Amino acid sequence: MIEKYINKIHNGDCLELFKNIPDNSVDVTFADPPFNLKKNYSSYKDSLEFQEYLDWCEMWISEMVRVTKSTGSIFLHNIPKWLTYYATYLNKFANFKHWISWDAATAPMGKSLQPAHYGILFYTKEANGTKIYELRYPHKRDRKQGYLWKDYGGKKDQLHPFGPLVSDVWTDIHRIKHNTKRDPHPCQLPIHLMDRLILMTTDENDIILDPFSGTGTTAISAKRLGRKYIGFELDKKYVEISRQKLERTLPNFKLGESWVSFYLNDIVTIRNNDWNNLAKYFSIPNPLRNIDFERVKLIDKKLIPKEPDIEKDVLGNESEITEKPSKYKWEENYRD
Ligand SMILES: C[S@@+](CC[C@H](N)C(=O)[O-])C[C@H]1O[C@@H](n2cnc3c(N)ncnc32)[C@H](O)[C@@H]1O
Repeated sequence: MIEKYINKIHNGDCLELFKNIPDNSVDVTFADPPFNLKKNYSSYKDSLEFQEYLDWCEMWISEMVRVTKSTGSIFLHNIPKWLTYYATYLNKFANFKHWISWDAATAPMGKSLQPAHYGILFYTKEANGTKIYELRYPHKRDRKQGYLWKDYGGKKDQLHPFGPLVSDVWTDIHRIKHNTKRDPHPCQLPIHLMDRLILMTTDENDIILDPFSGTGTTAISAKRLGRKYIGFELDKKYVEISRQKLERTLPNFKLGESWVSFYLNDIVTIRNNDWNNLAKYFSIPNPLRNIDFERVKLIDKKLIPKEPDIEKDVLGNESEITEKPSKYKWEENYRD
């Protein structure tokens, strides 16, 4: 029954489309909904819309929980304000794992603290038996000198050569740098953010469902990592853009037998338990304490798959190409 919905981006309202998806049938659900941040409305209308927005969110969040398998995970991306309400609601039906904060400077919002992160709520459907893998990311280094950012003192020869385990604060993934000649897409998430969530909670051929697919970031990440996807998207043009990008995407984010996340000519996320198979593809500082100033490098850069959506801008910086969007109503609610 679910087979005919797999590996497609479906055009329509997610609440309608969810009706086609059986209970407990997908491995991961991820949602990046419109943020509903309209300004300049009266306090009465404001509170009404506030509640309307939350009521609507509760409907699709319930659907996400319903369709997720008992071994599966549920992710909700939003600004912290809305995530506090989502969490209160989700705590009744699912199992809290983490509040992931990812470093993304946003437009100034007021006169208190400057918002500098988005949150991703990470819930599992059940408290036990969930599929979760530990991840690693490359050591952070000074950009000019190449020295390790963190001072490990005399413990450098005990470091993991690739990099530390991923925590719940992600400072190595940033909003997309746009091609200088193009208008930014208003909401496209960095694809390697999705790679990280997918590598953490799924295996090859697992199904990831995104009810607010936008220009298909989740689906593209799933496809290039050898997973299956189901996307819902209200806007026809975004569906078309996604379909075109998906046609050019290959399931080739692999090194040997291990699926990995590549970004801008490097590997940005691996699974911890894949390192034994991956180590042979890297030159590792010898002795290891030289890791302070010597990077672990991929021996053969030709193993890095070509990303069709990456090009160089006029300054020679690599950046993701983003489609020039037209003005859609939901964008009015989006902050930046
Ligand atoms: C924040 S964007 C998602 C962007 C996406 N993560 C990406 O990287 O491209 C939210 C998307 O939800 C879509 N949307 C809004 N209401 C919807 C609904 N009721 N059903 C399906 N999609 C909807 C919007 O058109 C928009 O593309």
